[in-house]
Amino acid sequence: ALVSMKDMLNKGLKEGYAVGQFNINNLEWTQAILGAAQEEKSPVILGVSEGAARYMGGFTVVTAIVKSLIEEMKITVPVAIHLDHGSSFDKCKEAIDAGFTSVMIDASHSPFEENVKTTKQVVAYAHERGISVEAELGTVGGQEDDVIADGVIYADPQECKQLVELTGIDCLAPALGSVHGPYKGEPNLGFKEMEEICQTIKLPLVLHGGTGIPTEQIKKSISLGTAKINVNTENQIAFTKVAREILTSDSEVFDPRKFLAPGREAIKQTVMGKMREFGSSNKA
Ligand code: G3H
Ligand code: ZN
Repeated sequence: ALVSMKDMLNKGLKEGYAVGQFNINNLEWTQAILGAAQEEKSPVILGVSEGAARYMGGFTVVTAIVKSLIEEMKITVPVAIHLDHGSSFDKCKEAIDAGFTSVMIDASHSPFEENVKTTKQVVAYAHERGISVEAELGTVGGQEDDVIADGVIYADPQECKQLVELTGIDCLAPALGSVHGPYKGEPNLGFKEMEEICQTIKLPLVLHGGTGIPTEQIKKSISLGTAKINVNTENQIAFTKVAREILTSDSEVFDPRKFLAPGREAIKQTVMGKMREFGSSNKA
């Protein structure tokens, strides 16, 4: 069933597990992730970046694909379609109007007052329609599509408190040292701040840059209030590894399904592993 993130994340926070956000790029990604969720009996969040939505032909194409797959694949677990790193009120509105059940407004690059103002505007539009909202403070490192950072800035706990009070968001992504794409060495996550922020705002926290974070740090983050973990790059690596192997080992292959289907299976296995690691299996 298509739902917002609100109940799934609050339940995760209460019961001590995290729901995975897995980014989609096309039909195969969507099939793999929905199939994994159903098999693991796990709630799931399909993350859609603005770049991925453009690639797929627009927000309405994305929702059409997700809705028909939910029906055809007989998916019964809770599914949210979530705009990842929404860059403006207009983009969030466009996604909501197209049938997205959740949005992230990422005004983290703007001055604090402006972040509050934009986030508030998105919350007003979204909540009226039963749509959940994620906001961000600080800067996640690395690069994902249009979101490029030249450094890592840790979120300030006081600003987190204010942002939540002033906007009424459903969950918050405080950047605390995580990075989009591969890490150079071990991640250095701000666990002290993570604990402090969750204690003060009493909302589910979101961890971006889930690829490459060791299991102990994942577990620790969940124990400190992280109830949503975003994973993108890891599935891209899993798919491309399999596709590349097939294409390099057999130069006669031209039917795309010969590498798309095994690649899709690799994504599914990766996602199922993440769901077990995050503790969301059998929580649907
Ligand atoms: O917004 C999406 C994520 O934060 C994904 O990060 O590609 O490092 O897994 P990742
Ligand atoms: Zn992110």
